[in-house]
This record gives sequence, C-alpha cells and structure tokens, in this order.
Amino acid sequence: MPLNPDTQSLTIVRPDDWHLHLRDGATMASVLPHTARQFGRAIVMPNLRPPVTTTGHAQAYRERILQALPAGLEFEPLMTIYLTDNTSANEIRRARESGIIHGVKLYPAGATTNSDAGVTDLRKCGAALEAMQECGLPLLMHGEVTDAAIDIFDREAVFIDRVLIPLRKDFPALKVVFEHITTRQAAQYVRDAAGAIGATITAHHLLYNRNEIFRGGIRPHYYCLPVLKREEHRQALVAAATSGNPRFFLGTDSAPHAKGLKEHACGCAGCYTALHALELYAEAFSAAGALDKLEGFASLHGAAFYDLPANAGSVTLERHEWEIPAELPMGETTVVPLDAGGRLGWRMAD
Ligand code: NCD
Ligand code: ZN
Repeated sequence: MPLNPDTQSLTIVRPDDWHLHLRDGATMASVLPHTARQFGRAIVMPNLRPPVTTTGHAQAYRERILQALPAGLEFEPLMTIYLTDNTSANEIRRARESGIIHGVKLYPAGATTNSDAGVTDLRKCGAALEAMQECGLPLLMHGEVTDAAIDIFDREAVFIDRVLIPLRKDFPALKVVFEHITTRQAAQYVRDAAGAIGATITAHHLLYNRNEIFRGGIRPHYYCLPVLKREEHRQALVAAATSGNPRFFLGTDSAPHAKGLKEHACGCAGCYTALHALELYAEAFSAAGALDKLEGFASLHGAAFYDLPANAGSVTLERHEWEIPAELPMGETTVVPLDAGGRLGWRMAD
C-alpha cells in the first residue's frame, strides 16, 4: 500500500549494497565507515590495482576491510573475484568453497576503471563459466561492449544482443547479475528473461538523466560508467526499481576518486554516494510515490537472489532537510559526494 505522502519516518530492514567500490589502504579507511553506517553487507568490487583475481587475494582483501572497520560498526564484506581470460575452473571451485566469495565480476577489457586485465573474449572463459554454473556462483557483469565503433550511449543495449543473450543460451543455468543497469532495454530484458537473473540500479541513474553532466557547463562529478542516459531510460529504471519485482535491487556503485582526478582534463568515471546512499534512494522512491517499495528493493530482493537471509536489524529514515557537504576527507586527498551542496529531504537516523 502506498505510504501517506506526509509520512515523517520510515523504518526498514537494514539494507545491503549489492555493488560497491571500497578501494584499499587509506582511501578505504576513509570511505568504509560511510557504507558500514548504512548497510549491513556489501558486494565488494575487485577492480583494485592489481585486481583481486584469486580466492587468496580476496581473503587478504577481506581481512584488510575488517581491520579498517571502526569499532562499533557491524558490517560484512561480501567478496568477489575478477574474471580474466585465464581464470580456471579450479579457481572458481576454490572461490565457492571459501564461503566468503559471492560472485565473479566480468569487466570487458577496457570498459571502465581498472578493467585492463578484464576479459578480452568471453569464449576464453568457458571452463570458468561452466564451473560457476555448476557451483551456483553468480556472474556479475559490467554490461557494456567496448567496441569503439559503438556510440557510448548505446554500449549497454548492444551488450544485451551481442554478449548477454548468447552467453545465457550457452549457460542457461548460470546465475547472472546485470550490474548498474542504465537503459530501458536492460530493464526490459531483466524483467522478461527466463532463468536466474537480477539487476542492480544505482541512485544516480534513478535521479538523473544525461543532461545533468552538462547543466551549465561540464560537471565531472556526474560522470560515471555506464554513463547517464536519456530521460526515457531514467523513467524506465524508476519503474523497474519501484515495481516490486524481486529481480531489481540496490547497488550504489559508489566509486570514490580523489577530487583532483575527477576535476581533470581526462576525469575518472565514478560517483561517490556511500555517504548518503539511502537518502538518495529515498528521494528517488519518494518522487515516484513509491516509498513503500524501498524496503524490498534495498533490503530483501538482493539477499534473496544471493541466497542469504535478510539482515536482522533495521534503519530509520526521517524527513529532515540537510545539505550535502562540499567535500570529505579521503586519505591524503578529498572526495566530492554526489550533488555536493545540494539538499536532501530525508536523513538516516543514528
Ligand atoms: C567504477 C570505478 O571507479 O571503479 N566507476 C564507475 O564509473 N562506475 C567502475 C565501474 O563500476 O564501472
Ligand atoms: Zn562499479
């Protein structure tokens, strides 16, 4: 039932972030508390330099995350490994048996930040995909083709036809997450396709269309990959996220880059949303008159897809206006949160 539009507070099962970049070292120590304050668990992306390609790397990375977690915050990092042309079936089985690895990430080589070691041709990954299908380890896909002849705004839609559909024909029982979907085509595909498939949706793709990157000048903090799309796509994503369909769940893709590397002649891709993720989603769901659908999207659907129980605790969002800070300390540098200086109408209570 839709909530009363005057609702002043909303309590939901503690949510999870099913797509997150935590980085490493001092950067990680700065950003981790933001995520751990809001979310019970997060799927941690493996695109470090060098990438997290083995179970051993993922175990060591997980230990570093737990070490950096401030006392009093409860948070469980759900680790992933980075698929390469050379990932073996044995590595996949080791990952599954470790119990700490919950997905294998596909970065098409060259598609995004730290994807150089990614897959050049999925046909080289047959043994790994076969093993994943067999042991039920999901493939988490950055779903964009890297063909320079394809317009950057079309790369996701083309990926569905060229890569995703053939892959799912060959591996019909493979569990797949189409990460950070940005188009009507992806939302429709995930809604209608047969078999085990889910999709994460970021807050920024629910809130903004591509005009935001160019409003009054070039605005690098709105540049991420996959890039923001036209308004019709944003609307399709809002419809999917607020539909109650359990295939769609929260994944912030919060991707911290130092301020100077965003405000740069060749700026990095990524939006920093870990600070205010839930509030940004609440804003998007509230604008769609669908706050009653936030709990399923943020706290229940992803856990069910990953065969995990929902979190035990809860969080409360209150109607309260506040201003997003201009920047935040991050290691030796700073990071600019998405919509810095803007105002939010919801705030997570401590
Ligand atoms: C991510 C990053 O910076 O690691 N950037 C982004 O724009 N989303 C990589 C990714 O998820 O594509
Ligand atoms: Zn990402």
